[in-house]
Amino acid sequence: TPTPKRIAVTGAAGQICYALLFRIAKGDVYGPDQPVILQLLDLPQAQAAVRGVVMELEDCAFPLLVDTIVTDDPTVAFRDADAAFFVGSRPRSKGMERRDLLSANAEIFRVQGRALNEAAKRDAKVVVVGNPANTNAMILAANAPDFPTENVTSMIRLDHNRALTQLAARAGVAVGDIDRLAVWGNHSPTMFADWTEAVSGGRLLSEIIDDETWYRETLIPDVARRGTAIIEARGASSAASAANAAIDHMHDWIHGSDGKWVSMGVHSTGAHGIPEGLMFGVPVVCKDGSYERVEGLSFNEFQNGMMARTIAELEEEREAVAALLG
Ligand code: NAI
Repeated sequence: TPTPKRIAVTGAAGQICYALLFRIAKGDVYGPDQPVILQLLDLPQAQAAVRGVVMELEDCAFPLLVDTIVTDDPTVAFRDADAAFFVGSRPRSKGMERRDLLSANAEIFRVQGRALNEAAKRDAKVVVVGNPANTNAMILAANAPDFPTENVTSMIRLDHNRALTQLAARAGVAVGDIDRLAVWGNHSPTMFADWTEAVSGGRLLSEIIDDETWYRETLIPDVARRGTAIIEARGASSAASAANAAIDHMHDWIHGSDGKWVSMGVHSTGAHGIPEGLMFGVPVVCKDGSYERVEGLSFNEFQNGMMARTIAELEEEREAVAALLG
């Protein structure tokens, strides 16, 4: 049997992890033949709740789950990790300013970046889910100088999946038949679900659907507002779908995306006019355990406007946490 993969997960007592951990233990990230060890991090006051989740994991008798570690020490959680899901973050409390939220999270990700730097395997794959995910990931990478920046990513896959389903329904095609969809920028209402290159069965979705007004005034804002719609309907934020997106993100990064575009938040190299160093949702193709950015696209005026909006927001976030970037 292969050596178990060590998977660190933060925010283990939370809603998303209540869906995520069971799917990791079932084999949805590394596959049905790969044993895993879960290394769970949460705050000291959440340790009892994490142990409750571990009791349930035990009661599933997952054949692939060989061990589970529970800790409030990031260095213990990230020790020799092969993959890490950073789900835990500080939620916005009543009356909290956006800037305060950014800096409270920046402090968490500064500390965790140092622990990642110290303890994780150099080829570990990291995805940040906890919001503000892009900027948290940027801080994490900045505070892990000996850890490859390419291996720190943020999650925009939920927005990608949301857009896929809406587009498939409107075009009357299967979700799995759509390729070349891109979701750009911040995981926030400024993110840009871009259908310009998207195809199904060799035809452009923009031609199949043939309704630019629907695209601009319904699809893009609906994908951006989907999180709020779920909170209104469910009385709680999206958790199972967020966990599923995190699994898709990591699964494709490890196993490849079969030549298809998927959207990931990655460190910007300056391509496509995106300022260098921002953690930015872009289309990538995953292959052989790594990802390649889709490059050389040219943008029309509408795309340029949408890109400018999400770039400006991420630059503002970067500005707010500048002191913690070193
Ligand atoms: P939750 O509030 O149910 O759970 C968060 C958990 O993180 C709690 O158990 C808390 O104790 C823990 N935590 C807080 N600070 C921590 C720290 N410093 N170290 C370790 N653990 C810590 O929240 P939920 O619903 O599980 O969501 C988690 C995060 O994911 C939130 O920030 C949410 O906004 C974000 N999210 C991101 C999405 C994306 O597409 N990128 C989609 C949906 C949610």
